[in-house]
Amino acid sequence: MNILCLLGSPRPDGNSAAIARRFLKTAEKLGAKARVFELNNLNYTGCQACWACKTNLDRCILEDDLKEVLESLWDADVLVLATPVYFGDVSAQMKAFIDRTFCYFVPDYAKNPNRSRLAPGKKLVFIIAQGHPDETRFAGIFSRYEYFFKWHGFEDTYLIRACGIYHPGDAKKRKDIMKLAEDTANKIFS
Ligand SMILES: Cc1cc2nc3c(=O)[nH]c(=O)nc-3n(C[C@H](O)[C@H](O)[C@H](O)COP(=O)(O)O)c2cc1C
Repeated sequence: MNILCLLGSPRPDGNSAAIARRFLKTAEKLGAKARVFELNNLNYTGCQACWACKTNLDRCILEDDLKEVLESLWDADVLVLATPVYFGDVSAQMKAFIDRTFCYFVPDYAKNPNRSRLAPGKKLVFIIAQGHPDETRFAGIFSRYEYFFKWHGFEDTYLIRACGIYHPGDAKKRKDIMKLAEDTANKIFS
């Protein structure tokens, strides 16, 4: 199975990246192939609402670094989105990617039950690193984005969320979270 993994933190060795890399390590041992992009190293904008993808194109018209990322998702079986919590939401880098997934929607996506151009049945793994230890804070991030990825035909969705981790290195000390990353990979790829 092919994995597309997007790291949404500006910290290459930060907490969300550490959890994602543990997930990928287990997945690769089980035969999966992963493509990883550090979003912070790419130059791209958010969706420009130009409607090119709803009129004369079935792709995003923007020629920036996200083009390759968006192309990679067509062939991916599993999408891994790893993000820190910033101001109660995903990072700006991750949000801009999510907005650009608008290009996958068919022109009549609001009424069409087959809303997405993507093949159905992909799996989503959402990894969240949150500084605040209270799990009830910012608890709606996953469900808010999961709702839209369901529109894109992602049938199985998995959340790996760590709260109370703040500094780089904190996630690696959390055995429960690292185990959850391994267990999630085992569940998907075994
Ligand atoms: C700009 C900024 C905004 C943040 N906002 C929040 C927040 O709203 N809630 C929270 O719990 N932690 C917040 N944090 C802390 C991060 O979520 C925390 O450090 C996390 O472990 C970072 O993950 P990373 O190492 O993958 O970047 C913020 C950190 C930064 C730099």
